Amino acid sequence: MPGRVEGKVALVMGGGQTPGDTIGNGRATALLLAREGARVFVVDLDGDRAAATCAEIRREGGQAESFAADVRQEADVQAAVVACVKAFGRLDLLHNNIGGGLSLGDESAVKMSVEAWDRVFEVNLRGMWLACKWAIPVMQEHGGGSIVNISSAAAHHKYPRVGYKTTKVAVIGLTEYLAAEHAGDMIRVNTILPGLMETPMAIEPRVAEGVAREVVIAERNRQVPLGKKMGSGWDVAYAALFLHSDEARFISGVALPVDGAMLVSG
Ligand SMILES: NC(=O)c1ccc[n+]([C@@H]2O[C@H](COP(=O)([O-])OP(=O)(O)OC[C@H]3O[C@@H](n4cnc5c(N)ncnc54)[C@H](O)[C@@H]3O)[C@@H](O)[C@H]2O)c1
Repeated sequence: MPGRVEGKVALVMGGGQTPGDTIGNGRATALLLAREGARVFVVDLDGDRAAATCAEIRREGGQAESFAADVRQEADVQAAVVACVKAFGRLDLLHNNIGGGLSLGDESAVKMSVEAWDRVFEVNLRGMWLACKWAIPVMQEHGGGSIVNISSAAAHHKYPRVGYKTTKVAVIGLTEYLAAEHAGDMIRVNTILPGLMETPMAIEPRVAEGVAREVVIAERNRQVPLGKKMGSGWDVAYAALFLHSDEARFISGVALPVDGAMLVSG
């Protein structure tokens, strides 16, 4: 049986992960794309984290290469795209996973500093655009492709920090723009809105603040309508796999919640 993305080359931006007990969205997606036949180019600010994802893919018999790059630097992003094409000869799937908030100094609108505002925008929004800027010409050359940008359910519900909220809404706008602009190039562009996921990036910063792990987990689980349990990195990965696969060949410009019915529950 061929895999669902057999023969494709995937560039996963932010495919390492925050250390922790569970799997992150980016690493789970990189692993799943590889299991389903893609060769995966894993990019991360932290080269060791990217290499660890690749090692796991190779252990399972897949093909992967890692690359250290900072999505805030255009030259790094360009170099990552060039290196991906050099390694695997093409680029079919771009997965833009990088995003952050608290760790970048995100705050309420009245407390936020200009520096933190710029940091959140650089990482969450400008980085996604830069990856698209350099990947799209390669996809155009090869007759098409798929881009998935990771936003957040926070785009559509009340959220306490202004930078994350605003950039995650803007990711949807960027996605819609690109989907319309590049439909003629056979490039599909979609976004995923994860809800409350049990990933290290969501749990570890709160634990580091001194809140007991069980309390953080219980608080988050309580808020999820579907089964009173958070989702996992695999839930985002399976949605991404579908959107990147040819099963979604007529789907472009959508924002898919992966949130256990949170958005529809008010
Ligand atoms: N976990 C959740 O509950 C949740 C909910 C909604 C949305 N999301 C979104 O999911 C995405 C992250 O998921 P994850 O679990 O893979 O997170 P993660 O923190 O485990 O992985 C993100 C990776 O991005 C890398 N990174 C950070 N800044 C970078 C930069 N400047 N250049 C290159 N790489 C950089 C980090 O080193 C890290 O390895 C984010 O876009 C986040 O907003 C998560």
